[in-house]
Amino acid sequence: MHIDLTGRTALVTGSTQGIGAAITKELARAGARVAVNGRGEQRVEEAVDRLTREVPGADLVPAVADVSTEEGAGRLAEVLPQVDILVNNLGVFGSADPLEIDDAEWRRYFEVNVLAAVRLTRMYLPSMTERGWGRVQYIASDSAVVVPAEMIHYGMTKTSLLAVSRGFAKKAAGTGVTVNSVIAGPTRTGGVEDFVYGLVDRSLPWEQAQRVFMREYRPQSLLQRLIEPEEIAHMVVYLSSPQASATTGGALRVDGGYVDAILP
Ligand SMILES: NC(=O)c1ccc[n+]([C@@H]2O[C@H](COP(=O)([O-])OP(=O)(O)OC[C@H]3O[C@@H](n4cnc5c(N)ncnc54)[C@H](OP(=O)(O)O)[C@@H]3O)[C@@H](O)[C@H]2O)c1
Repeated sequence: MHIDLTGRTALVTGSTQGIGAAITKELARAGARVAVNGRGEQRVEEAVDRLTREVPGADLVPAVADVSTEEGAGRLAEVLPQVDILVNNLGVFGSADPLEIDDAEWRRYFEVNVLAAVRLTRMYLPSMTERGWGRVQYIASDSAVVVPAEMIHYGMTKTSLLAVSRGFAKKAAGTGVTVNSVIAGPTRTGGVEDFVYGLVDRSLPWEQAQRVFMREYRPQSLLQRLIEPEEIAHMVVYLSSPQASATTGGALRVDGGYVDAILP
């Protein structure tokens, strides 16, 4: 299968590092023009430079905006009035005793992980349906279906995204726009390295720390290793492609078999 996204414009939220950066790289490799989003000018510029080295000739648009705020979404609308592919990748995560998570933290998780994606969908979906083609995706997590006791607030946001995704897919029914979620499993990113070291002995070298983390906190993984960000990105590129035209309203798993279920 040859995926060609030439002529398509994509926005990947939270894409200066980690899974977002890998998705940006792979969409650019498939020929799309891709907006690189983060909160600070310097980190966005660095990401654009790095991605341009990785994908020579990539057409990248710097999009500096804190998309967890209305003002940030407004700034994006100025830089990118319309997109063909919207990948709602931004998400914060951390561990906390569920009885210690206060109202402000619950709200922050909802606003960053769910409301930001809903706002951008509201902003970009109408012009996609008018043009009769579009791709909207939400990066969910295994925590949406297997809620870890130390991440209830995070799990809540990812379960919400599955509902949001299914609902917007119905809104887009019959228009040529597809809407899906990707259920990512434990993936090797900078954010996750910090998270792992929050749970296991900080003095352990990374390879050992990773094994201890998988054994003690993610024993259900059939992959028995962290997923590489590019492995998530390949699913996103496929869902963004014309070839994926019959896949909508779904939740596709790239979780290393972590969720013990036949269907998501
Ligand atoms: N990593 C995993 O194991 C894993 C597993 C399942 C699902 N996921 C999901 O995958 C997604 C990406 O995770 P990740 O591990 O790659 O994240 P990460 O390494 O922590 O990266 C977060 C990215 O988001 C940007 N960002 C943070 N707040 C922002 C804001 N308000 N507005 C715009 N950009 C913002 C950061 O850029 P700046 O700092 O430059 O602003 C950075 O590029 C998340 O939704 C996460 O829940 C991750």
